Amino acid sequence: MESKIALIFVILLCLILVLIISLVLMFWKRFRKTGVRSFFSVFFLLLILSLFHFIPRHFKRDYLSKSAGLSQISFRSYADSLHFYIGSVGNVEAITNPKFYNNFNSVTPENELKMGALFKNSEIGEYDFSHADSIVNSALSRNIRVRGHALVWGKLSGVFKRPDLDHYLKDFPIEERSNALWNLMRNYITTLLKHYKGKIYVWDVVNEPLDFRKAGELEKNVYYRYLGENYIARIFRLAHSIDPDVKLYLNEQLNSYDDKRSEAFYNLVRKLKDDNVPINGVGIQSHIIYMLPNLDEFESYLQKFTALGLEAEITELDARLILFRKNPDPYKAQGEFYGSLLRICINNPFCRGITFWGFTDNHCWFDNLIWFTKPNEPYLFDKDMNPKPAFEELYRSFQRYSGQTISDNDFINY
Ligand code: GLA
Repeated sequence: MESKIALIFVILLCLILVLIISLVLMFWKRFRKTGVRSFFSVFFLLLILSLFHFIPRHFKRDYLSKSAGLSQISFRSYADSLHFYIGSVGNVEAITNPKFYNNFNSVTPENELKMGALFKNSEIGEYDFSHADSIVNSALSRNIRVRGHALVWGKLSGVFKRPDLDHYLKDFPIEERSNALWNLMRNYITTLLKHYKGKIYVWDVVNEPLDFRKAGELEKNVYYRYLGENYIARIFRLAHSIDPDVKLYLNEQLNSYDDKRSEAFYNLVRKLKDDNVPINGVGIQSHIIYMLPNLDEFESYLQKFTALGLEAEITELDARLILFRKNPDPYKAQGEFYGSLLRICINNPFCRGITFWGFTDNHCWFDNLIWFTKPNEPYLFDKDMNPKPAFEELYRSFQRYSGQTISDNDFINY
């Protein structure tokens, strides 16, 4: 599959190259005709290809006939009885919806616990906990666990590049920048962990430490540059010293479980363990964007962390519907895929939970990324809040794992 993507990429690159060469030829009298001809041929070919790529496909929603029945049922009590966290990203509006709190026993605030959101007007120093607090309190009042996401995130790009720490550090003489950043982080992490003590007891301490472009290397983010390459260990130790009761996770996005990147993540975690760094678990984000992972590899990968004595969670799950297009019913296939992940996770007692990076298909972060062919529709409820086959699959699985199987006939009668 990866080689297929590489091939498409190479073909596209060649076409663009031909386009550029034709453009140059068009300005060269001798070859003008050839240039014009090949320019327009390639241009139209690219246009057709991109139209084909960007026009969303539509798949039949056979599941709608079952929606009314499925809307009456929920799986949270089964997950609770298995002590398994099944969660979603959510704000107050989502959490207060019965479809949310009757199914999910865990919530992750999407952005509200990130540094840029907590500093008032993104200015370092003064905090505004109001948005985050309202999510945390409304979750806790419904007995929903909150995952803290994330204390440190080096990506801080685009809208999240707030506050801009590099900019902040420029006001300090070079030799003082390392201390300045450490002091800032110490105050920040102390403030957060104290503020949420007893409320949030699992945190992604460092999010996405690996570089996206250079397989297997740590990203040379502001923390790496000023605190040194063992900044991760330092921050975990700091967090543990502030609140020894809180569970500390390292969270990362991986696209395969048998490549350089996944190996680097494992080696990073193993090194932390070898150095007695207080890490409790790993978060495997699981944004499934380009291709479906090999699930046997995923299962073995998870077990490698278990062997280190660590917990694991799938922290940001979403598999784009388009990836299942070759199946007669993509919605069903997507559901079965989630069902397999649940089975793998539940079979491993150290896998504590699965969180979807969205509640309904109304709000999906992929939708803003126009270069992905739609439909994305990765979540358990569709845009009209109808439960999808993925919901049904999880419902059935939870029932089965908690020893309460029902027959198909019973199911249809709901
Ligand atoms: C990463 C981050 C999340 C979120 C997503 C995009 O996975 O960990 O917090 O920003 O990207 O929505």
